[in-house]
Amino acid sequence: MTTNPPVTDWATDYDIFDPEFVRDPYPTYDELRRECPVAHTDRWGGSWLPTRYEDVVAIAHDVDTYSSREILVTPSPTAAYAGANQQVKAPPISSDPPEHRWARRLILPIFAPGAVAKYEQGTRDLCNSLIDGFIADGRADAAAGYAQQIPVRVIAAMLGVGTERADEFTSWVRGVLEVGLTDPEARVAARTNIIGFFREQIADRRANPRDDDLITEMLAAEVDGEPVPEHHILGTCNLMLVAGVDTTWSAIGSSMWHLATHPEDRRRLVAEPDLWPTAIEELLRAYSPVTMARIVDHDTEYAGCPMHEGDRVLMAFPAANRDPEVFENPDDVILDRQHNRHVAFGSGIHRCAGSNLARLELRVALQTWLDRIPEFELEDPDTVTWAGGQVRGPRACPVVFPAG
Ligand code: HEM
Repeated sequence: MTTNPPVTDWATDYDIFDPEFVRDPYPTYDELRRECPVAHTDRWGGSWLPTRYEDVVAIAHDVDTYSSREILVTPSPTAAYAGANQQVKAPPISSDPPEHRWARRLILPIFAPGAVAKYEQGTRDLCNSLIDGFIADGRADAAAGYAQQIPVRVIAAMLGVGTERADEFTSWVRGVLEVGLTDPEARVAARTNIIGFFREQIADRRANPRDDDLITEMLAAEVDGEPVPEHHILGTCNLMLVAGVDTTWSAIGSSMWHLATHPEDRRRLVAEPDLWPTAIEELLRAYSPVTMARIVDHDTEYAGCPMHEGDRVLMAFPAANRDPEVFENPDDVILDRQHNRHVAFGSGIHRCAGSNLARLELRVALQTWLDRIPEFELEDPDTVTWAGGQVRGPRACPVVFPAG
């Protein structure tokens, strides 16, 4: 993934794209938490990395000092964004107060528990049809052939755009959040495709409003008596695709990997369905996929670290979620863990707006699989591959099971 020299000192020179770190970041997070809880690197544009729960949460709440105007973990190729798309950001995740308040309010209703419940049956049908496609083979790729196929289609339904272009959407999302983090040209190309696509969709909804899709609702909404600007609607559509897709497939994929490698947990979930609510939270905690960035708004000092205006801070929610000060036996997955104030969905004003939908998708994907394929295991642990950087999860996870 990277041709950078290997890391010799993680406290002063960490590399979040280091292949071994991507495969298993937890020992490094543990060491940093103990020895240098706010690490620094000059790599990839330079950044700070808080790893303790308390620090990650404190920084997430200090929105005056740590701005969300850029949330990617490597610098944006700014010049290349010039032109028609320059104004298009990703509100509300890229908004600071006061804009953040109304930008979030605009989308919250569609993510309320009652509102997302209507996607449950469609998600279950989708999972069943994916399983129909491979159950007779006795093998499948639980990441590429299952997890990755689900969220993109659920979001397409929510946005009222067809699912026939799901593969294209997936490649655009990876272009922004995965490949694009270290390849600015790929990032710009993916962004241009996403924005171009939604520009067409918005023009279509202006001409042909629909009953209940998010784009039509945003076009009808007002802020301070004015219609919501088009660049804002474009940015929010962009966010829905980028934030709702590989975050969720990574959580589903990591959970599938866990169940494939932990038969006792798999069997417990089948035998004790009451465990689902705590099990979902525990899988989210243990395998939190998302790390977001902040930009330091003005010179400051945090825990003795001199942070300068424009410095990037990586919000290591996955590291916070394994902090032994907050979670007993943090590296163990305990399906009935009772105290679990995890920050897989972030903390503070930017806490994930889509968390109800994400939980629903994760639960339905795992339940449907276990209903039909209760016994499965990795085909060969060496063929599992992981992607990391901004969103960590398996990209290939071949499993075998008794053919159905
Ligand atoms: C397991 C899956 C998911 C995880 C782990 C996750 C994680 C996160 C995290 C950590 C944040 C906070 C970012 C920050 O502090 O900068 C966030 C924000 C957000 N997420 Fe998610 N997310 C997931 C799924 C989704 C889905 C399915 C959607 C919607 C389609 C979504 C929409 C959003 C939005 C709109 C925000 C911005 C909220 C704001 O700034 O007010 N997410 N997510």
